[in-house]
Amino acid sequence: MSQHDEKRRRLLGRLNRQLAYTAPILALVAGGAALQATASDSSTETGFVPVSEASLLLASNQAEAEGEAEAEGEAEAEGGSSAAVARPEGYSPGYSETGDNPEEMLARGEELYYDTSLSTNGLSCASCHGSDGQDMGYKATFEQPFPHQVAMANSQFGMSEVHADEMVQVCMVAPMEAEPLEWGSEELTSLSAYMVEVQKRFAGEPHDL
Ligand code: HEC
Repeated sequence: MSQHDEKRRRLLGRLNRQLAYTAPILALVAGGAALQATASDSSTETGFVPVSEASLLLASNQAEAEGEAEAEGEAEAEGGSSAAVARPEGYSPGYSETGDNPEEMLARGEELYYDTSLSTNGLSCASCHGSDGQDMGYKATFEQPFPHQVAMANSQFGMSEVHADEMVQVCMVAPMEAEPLEWGSEELTSLSAYMVEVQKRFAGEPHDL
């Protein structure tokens, strides 16, 4: 074995060890780099340098990518923060959670319920929850008056129970893929007042819709 071949063997061995702990996709990319380097190594030794550099670069990119993936995984496992969807401290809502909200407020809430411009994905609340009074997409927990426990609010935001406005915010942020509505805004207030009546209808109780 020539000195040249020996050096090549060692370098490729090192490259392989590095590849052994990279993800399969990156191993494929690195494999391409190794092939390229092998093809260019025929004349001079400098042909090896890119192999080593390329593999080190790939290894460090990979380490970075793994770090990012881990961070993302953790965020997902823990769910989002409730900060954006929970009532701010000392907040007092502009609607009544037991009902008796002004008719105009309910009318405005209904309008917003059909408004696809609230989301970033073309959906309105009605896309999932039904139009013309056919209430869809709710679980049995919705039969209880607010505040109550909701699986999605718990699993995604760690909230043990939610008020109507908090549930509106949960659906704004999660399924509607939008920013939460501003606390105290007429949108949030009207939509929440409307959902209080929808809750009563869903529970088979007298309501103002
Ligand atoms: C992509 C579908 C989707 C869209 C769009 C959507 N939601 Fe929801 N919503 C759900 C799902 C799924 C649940 C059931 C969550 C659960 O019970 O765990 C739910 C539950 C609810 C509940 C009842 C939870 C309870 O038991 O109290 C309310 C209130 C609600 N959504 C309001 C809204 C409002 C208001 C909008 C529009 C701003 C909206 N949703 C948009 C999917 C959606």
